[in-house]
Amino acid sequence: LARHERWAQEGLTRRSVHNQRDSRVSTLDWWRTGTIYQVYIRSFADSNGDGTGDINGLRSKLPYLADLGIDGIWINPWYPSPLLDGGYDVADYRDIHPSYGTLEDADAMIEEAHELGIRILVDLVPNHCSWDHVWFKAALQAAPGSPERARFHFTEGSVADDGTVGPPNNWKSVFGGSAWTQVDDGQWYLHLFDPSQPDLDWTHPEVREEFRSILRFWLDRGADGFRVDVAHGLAKDMDFPDLSDHVQILSSAKQPNHAHWDRDELHEIVREWRAVLDEYDDRMMVAEAWVSEESLPKYLRPDEYHQSFSFDLLMAAWDADAYRSTIASVYEPAKALGAASTWVLSNHDVMRHTTRFGLPADESWRTWPVTGPADALDTELGERRARVAALITLGLPGASYLYQGEELGLPEVWELPWDVLDDPVARRSEGTQKGRDGCRVPIPWTADGESFGFGGPAWMPQPDRFAAYAADQQIGVDGSFHSLYKDALRIRREHFVDDAELTWIDAGDGVLAYSRASGVRCVANMGAESVPMPAGEILLTSIPGLTDELPSDTAVWLRPT
Ligand code: GLC
Repeated sequence: LARHERWAQEGLTRRSVHNQRDSRVSTLDWWRTGTIYQVYIRSFADSNGDGTGDINGLRSKLPYLADLGIDGIWINPWYPSPLLDGGYDVADYRDIHPSYGTLEDADAMIEEAHELGIRILVDLVPNHCSWDHVWFKAALQAAPGSPERARFHFTEGSVADDGTVGPPNNWKSVFGGSAWTQVDDGQWYLHLFDPSQPDLDWTHPEVREEFRSILRFWLDRGADGFRVDVAHGLAKDMDFPDLSDHVQILSSAKQPNHAHWDRDELHEIVREWRAVLDEYDDRMMVAEAWVSEESLPKYLRPDEYHQSFSFDLLMAAWDADAYRSTIASVYEPAKALGAASTWVLSNHDVMRHTTRFGLPADESWRTWPVTGPADALDTELGERRARVAALITLGLPGASYLYQGEELGLPEVWELPWDVLDDPVARRSEGTQKGRDGCRVPIPWTADGESFGFGGPAWMPQPDRFAAYAADQQIGVDGSFHSLYKDALRIRREHFVDDAELTWIDAGDGVLAYSRASGVRCVANMGAESVPMPAGEILLTSIPGLTDELPSDTAVWLRPT
C-alpha cells in the first residue's frame, strides 16, 4: 500500500506542514504552543536489526508519533561520530552516522514527517567537535602556532616553581578531571567536556563561517530548526584565568560572564545564526542554556533564540509551593519578553522522572544508582506522580518537550552494570556516578520478541520489566500512560493552546491549581490528604475513576459547566 493509503487506514488525518504554512493562523509560531518529542535516535527504533536505532526505524514510527499528537521532533545528534559522548562528538556536521542511515534516509524522513504535520529539529553542536573531525586531525598534524591549531584552544602548559609542567589553568571538564589534554609536542588543548570533544575557538572567522554554512545545509534539506547544544558555552575568557568553582553536567552556570559560561560575546554569534534562519520561512532554534534567571532573557531577545529550555521544573522538589514558584519564575519573564515558556520533565541527560519522583526527597538522583539503597525507590509512587506532572506541564502555556518513552511511563534503568556503561560521565566519575545510560536504554515497542520489538540485540541491555511498559501493551488501553498522554495532547490542542494566560487559583495547602483564559483548569493535589473534587466538567484525570475526590498525588483537568 502507498504510504498515504496506509496512514489513512490507520485513521491518521493530519495537516501537512506545507498546508499549515499556507494557513497563517496555525503557522504563526507553531513552537510557542507545540509539543516537541525528543528522539534519542540510537535507542528509538532499529530497522535493520543491528541493535542500534536508525532513521528508517524512526520513519516507521512516524505514524505512531502523529497518532500520539505531537507537533515536532528534536533528534539527538545523528552525525558521523566515534560516539564517545553519544554523538555529541561530531566528526562531520554534514553527514549521517552510517549506523543511523544516510542523508537520503534523512531527507525521506523529513519529507514524511512534514506530510504528517510534524516539524523536525536537528541538534546543532557548536561548542566542540570530535577529535575525529578533519579540523582537529589537521590541528594535531600541524605545529604549535599554525593556522590549523588556531581553530581550537591550543596553548602552552603552566610551569610550577619546581619546574613541573601542568595544564594551562585549573579549569575542570564538566564530566570530571582537567579540561585540558596535552598533545605530543607539549601543547595542551581545551575540552570543557570529554577529551574527545575539543572546544572550538569562536573568535576565529572560519569557525563562524563554517557554522553558518552548516545551518544552511540542514535548512536547505528542509529541517525546521535546531536545538543548540551548550548554548551557554562557545565564548571563553581568552586570558584563561584560574577558576574557583566547578559546574557539573546539567547544573546552571549561575554566574554571568563566567570565564567559560554565559559570556556576553556569545550573543553576537547567536545573532549571526538568527540572521541565517530568518533568510528562511518559519524556522526556529531552541537553546540549551544553563544560565541564571537573570541571564536567560538575553538569549530570548528578538534577534536571538526563539526559545530556551527551562530545566528548573525538572529540578524542583515535589511540593505545590515549589512547583508554583518555579513555574512562575519561568512563565513571568518569558511572558514579559513575549517569548514562550518551555516545560521539560526528562531528557537524555537526567534520570527518567517516573524514577526520580519515586525517590525520597533527600535522595540525589545522580548518585542514588551507586549508593542505593535500592529499596528507597517507590515505583508506584513515582508513576503516580509522573501522571500528575504530565497534566501540570501539558496544561501550561508554552511548549512542552517530551522525551521518548515518557509517554509509556518508562522507568530509569538504574541497575545497569558498570561494565555495560558507555557514558563518559560514568567513565570519568571514579565510581561515584553511573551517568546517563539508564535513560537511554532502547524503547520497548512490544512485550514479546527480540529486544521488545526495538530491533536487533539492543546496544544497551533492556531489563525484563520493560515488557510491561511496551507500547503494544498500552496503545488503546484505558488508564495506560500512553492513553493519558494521547488524551492530554488532544485536549491540549482543543482547550489549552489558544492563549498564553495563566492564572493561579488558591485551592488550599498542597494543591497546585491554575486556570487558562478559556476557563479550563488544572488542579493537582500534591499534598498528603485527599481534597474534594473541584466543581466543573471533568476533561481528564491523572488516574482513571476519580469522581468525588482528588486523593494525594492525583490531578484533574476541568472546564466550567
Ligand atoms: C549537552 C548534551 C549532553 C552532552 C553535552 C556535551 O549537555 O545534552 O548530552 O553530553 O552537551 O555536548
